[in-house]
Amino acid sequence: METESEARSLPGPTGLAQVGYMRRILKDPQPVLDELRDRYGPVCAMGAGPMRMAIIGAPGALDDLFAISNDSFRWGHKFNVLGFVVGPGSMIVSDGPDHKRRRASVQTAFARRRLNAWVPTIVEQTDAAIDRLGIDLAGETRTVDLYPVGRGIVLEIVVRALFGERLAQRTQEIGDLFQRPQDYLESSFVRQLPHRLPHTARAKVRADRVALDVIYDGEIAHHRQHPTDDPHDMLGTLVQDGSLSDSEIRDQMSTLIGAGYDTTSASLAWMLWCAALEPAVWSQLRAEADDVFGPPGTAEVVVDHTLLNRLGVAERVMRETLRLHPAGVVAPREAAADVRVGEYVIPKGTLILWSAYLAGRDPEAWTDPLRFDPDRFLDLTPEQKVIADHAWVPFGRGARNCIGFALAQMELTLMISRLEQRLDVTSTASVAPPPVGMVVNRPLGGAPMRVAERA
Ligand code: HEM
Repeated sequence: METESEARSLPGPTGLAQVGYMRRILKDPQPVLDELRDRYGPVCAMGAGPMRMAIIGAPGALDDLFAISNDSFRWGHKFNVLGFVVGPGSMIVSDGPDHKRRRASVQTAFARRRLNAWVPTIVEQTDAAIDRLGIDLAGETRTVDLYPVGRGIVLEIVVRALFGERLAQRTQEIGDLFQRPQDYLESSFVRQLPHRLPHTARAKVRADRVALDVIYDGEIAHHRQHPTDDPHDMLGTLVQDGSLSDSEIRDQMSTLIGAGYDTTSASLAWMLWCAALEPAVWSQLRAEADDVFGPPGTAEVVVDHTLLNRLGVAERVMRETLRLHPAGVVAPREAAADVRVGEYVIPKGTLILWSAYLAGRDPEAWTDPLRFDPDRFLDLTPEQKVIADHAWVPFGRGARNCIGFALAQMELTLMISRLEQRLDVTSTASVAPPPVGMVVNRPLGGAPMRVAERA
C-alpha cells in the first residue's frame, strides 16, 4: 500500500482556502461541489490530520470505493451526527458484526413480498391527500406548496409501513416528534456539538426521543403479546425476528423514520418541479396514469404491484429527478485503513464524502448532463446501460446501500403518477429553485405551484 505522502497528491485546494471549503461544504454542499469539480475535478481532497476530507464523485472512482470491503470504513465516526437522533444502536452508525446483525434483522421487513403489499396503501394515502386538497380548493385554482402536502403523504405511508394501522391515528404526533430532530440535524455543526445543558435545542431533541421511545415500547410490548406476520408492520417483524434488543429495535425505528421521511418527501418535491416545468412530460405522465389507473370517472382497476411495470414514464421521471437531485448529495464514511481509489490512496482517518450528485452530473457519463430528460433512460445500448447504472447512485451501492431503496422508488413512482393524474399543476417559476440542505437536499422554498383539481 502506498504511503500517506503519495495520497497528498490528490488534487484539491491548498492553504487557507481549504478551511473555507470545508466549512461551506458542511453547510451548503451543492454549490461547493460544483466549484470543487470545476477547479480540481470530481475526486479531490483537502484538510490535514484528523480534519482531512476527500470528495469522490467520479463514477469510476465510486466503482472502486463501493468494491472495497466495508471493514475498511467506519460509519460510527466522530463526524456522524446522526447517532444523537437515531441512537447509538442504529445500523446507520454501526460497523462490523453489529451492523450486519442489525441490518439483517431489518432486511427481513423489506422482503419484496412485503413491499408489494404496500402498493395499495401508497395509492390510498396519496388519494386521501388529494381528496383533502380538493376540499380546500373548493373548485378554485390556488397557489399551494405541494412540498408539505407530499411530506404529509409520505409520513402517513411510513407510519403505516412501520407500525401498521394501529398507530395511524398518531401519525401527526409522531411527525411532530420527528420535526425538531430533523431541523436540528440541518443546524450548524457548532450547535450540534455534544453537551447536556438543559433548555437547549439539543435537550429538546433528547426529550422528543424519550417521548418516541414511550410509543415504541408500547408497540414492542403489544407485539410480544400478539405476534404478527402483517407485512404492514415492520416493528412486529423485528420483534418476531428476535435478534435485536428492545433498545436496538427502538433505534432502528427512529432510523427508518429519519431515513425514509424527509428523503422521499424532498425527492417528490424535486419531481414535481422537474415535471411541472416540462408540460410535455406532465402530459405523458397523465396519459400513462389514465391508461394504468383508468381515466377519472371510470371504474378504477385493482391496485396492486403489477401496475408498477406499466408506469414506465413515472419511473423514468423518478430516475431522472434523482440523477439531478439526489436526496443525499454527499454520504460520509471514514477510512479505517488506507484505501485505494483509482490512482489515489486515501489515508486512514480521512472523512470520505462520496457524491451521488457529482456522479449524476458527470459529463463523461451523461450527454448534456444538466438537461432534464427522462427519456435518456429509454433504449440504451448494453454499453450505455452499464455507464448509466454506474453513474446513477442516489441510493449508494453494495452492502451499505439504502435499505429502503425499493420502497422509496415505489412510493415516488406511484405518488407522482396519482398527483399528476388528479391535479392540474402549473409551475410558479420558470426555473426550479436552488437546493438547500446538508443532510437532505430539497428545493429552497418548497414546491409552490398553481393547483386545481383536474377538470
Ligand atoms: C428517495 C429516497 C431515499 C434516498 C435518496 C436514500 C438514500 C440513501 C443513501 C445515499 C444512503 C447511504 C448509503 C451509503 O452511505 O453508502 C442511505 C442509507 C439508508 N437508507 Fe435511504 N434513501 C431514501 C429513502 C429511504 C427509505 C424510504 C428508507 C426506509 C424506510 C431508508 C432507509 C435507509 C437506511 C436504514 C440506511 C442505512 C443503511 C445502512 O447503514 O446499512 N432510506 N439511503
